[in-house]
Amino acid sequence: MIVCLFVWQKLTWKTKDVEKCTVRGKNSDECYNYIKVLVPRNDETLFACGTNAFNPTCRNYKMSSLEQDGEEVVGQARCPFESRQSNVGLFAGGDFYSATMTDFLASDAVIYRSLGESSPVLRTVKYDSKWLREPHFLHAIEYGNYIYFFLSEIAVEYTTLGKVVFSRVARVCKNDNGGSPRVLERYWTSFLKARLNCSVPGDSFFYFDVLQSLTNVMQINHRPAVLGVFTTQANSITGSAVCAFYMDDIEKAFNGKFKEQRNSELAWTPVPDEMVPKPRPGSCAGDGPAAGYKSSTDFPDETLTFIKSYPLMDEAVPSVNNRPCFTRTTSRYLTQIAVDTAAGPYKNYTVLFLGSENGRVLKILASMHPNSTYSTQVLEDIDVYNSNMCNVRGEDRRILGLELDKDHHALFVAFSSCVIRVPLSRCSDYGDCKKRVSSITCCSLPASITTCCDYSHANQSHLIGHRPRHSIQSSFFFRQL
Ligand SMILES: *[C@@H]1O[C@H](CO)[C@@H](O)[C@H](O)[C@H]1NC(C)=O
Ligand SMILES: *[C@@H]1O[C@H](CO)[C@@H](O)[C@H](O)[C@H]1NC(C)=O
Ligand SMILES: *[C@@H]1O[C@H](CO)[C@@H](O)[C@H](O)[C@H]1NC(C)=O
Repeated sequence: MIVCLFVWQKLTWKTKDVEKCTVRGKNSDECYNYIKVLVPRNDETLFACGTNAFNPTCRNYKMSSLEQDGEEVVGQARCPFESRQSNVGLFAGGDFYSATMTDFLASDAVIYRSLGESSPVLRTVKYDSKWLREPHFLHAIEYGNYIYFFLSEIAVEYTTLGKVVFSRVARVCKNDNGGSPRVLERYWTSFLKARLNCSVPGDSFFYFDVLQSLTNVMQINHRPAVLGVFTTQANSITGSAVCAFYMDDIEKAFNGKFKEQRNSELAWTPVPDEMVPKPRPGSCAGDGPAAGYKSSTDFPDETLTFIKSYPLMDEAVPSVNNRPCFTRTTSRYLTQIAVDTAAGPYKNYTVLFLGSENGRVLKILASMHPNSTYSTQVLEDIDVYNSNMCNVRGEDRRILGLELDKDHHALFVAFSSCVIRVPLSRCSDYGDCKKRVSSITCCSLPASITTCCDYSHANQSHLIGHRPRHSIQSSFFFRQL
């Protein structure tokens, strides 16, 4: 395996506060500047935020020269205080959308919008467990009129057996201006969330409820969809699954019934239609049911009061084909996913790359069509961890990021102290298979796929549905380095 990475340009941003931080008696491991946000702001500018020794701070850099551009800005609500806290951030239409903890004690979780020129700063309601409860933020996507957030959190609607984690998709309208001076002023009026249902039906029915990683929107069976890696609850048996969700099924859940708890003794039930005010709570102003409203600030109090109390949808989003497209219950947890939806000589196969806790990457041929003539199979199981390069601060085999670069025929695998480049085609590792691979027969006949099939072989054109190019430099590489 070749593992050369070249540094083109290098940027260092150190905290000035290390001494102050250690004097305050904080764990000195956290007295550094952990870069938690690194996203393109526009074509010329990179936006970076770091924990900066418990003093989160953001900067702009010129993309071409990596020179700092303008003054630092406060990072609070855009970047967490500690490296281990989860966060996501992205720019859309000049606004920065972030989901993170906003305080030192990590008690206030927020989905936040700021830095826009014309749109007001908005956030989720503070300390309200119906909106967010101990969330772990995993991904954010701009899609249509909305920004979608993917997270796991403690389920408010499931209280009988102590704390249970559910995975959610939440969304807000990009044109949300907040509520009226009476209700929800400076808060989202469009925040809705729904459970993601990644479960194995049948006799051994059970749920993979803890989202670990998610792709951007890509085409599955010619429909826009996302794919995620889920695991079982931390205190239950070990298991991981990959589930896909169509964006239109997510939409359907958000157009369905709301969920309520009439009083704290009762179970959660759907809100009857006649109790839902008009325009429908959670709608975007100027669109659909709220077409007659210019701005969310004009919404009637009933609509705003309703959405403040009932952001949770009743129905869960079903997964594609109502089942996971891959499960693994025998080994350690899966942590990351990257997907090639145009693999094989005819670009009509879906290949999943799955990172795990123990440094292995699984390459899976996924069967996504309901009437598929083949079933999901493991093509390769590669040990990617390289102790010569990666044992910088002790052994940490957990894969933190996977990024596919089909143009250069490579998969980048990020660990806490190194990044490994894995060539997509590894046929030279298997002398015997070379001949079969070069005749590409094994690629057109999935039933006979051997471990050395070169899936990317006939397909060098362009990335379809993959993350934007800049995310090769995206936060996962830098998060804990
Ligand atoms: C999740 O999906 C399964 C399989 O379709 C279904 O049986 C189950 O009722 C769903 N669960 C929820 C909470 O919607
Ligand atoms: C992919 O395309 C080839 C050639 O058209 C066809 O033989 C094969 O069955 C297709 N496979 C899938 C999964 O659609
Ligand atoms: C799958 O096959 C069944 C029976 O042949 C057919 O009715 C159904 O439409 C097919 N589904 C898709 C998505 O092609």
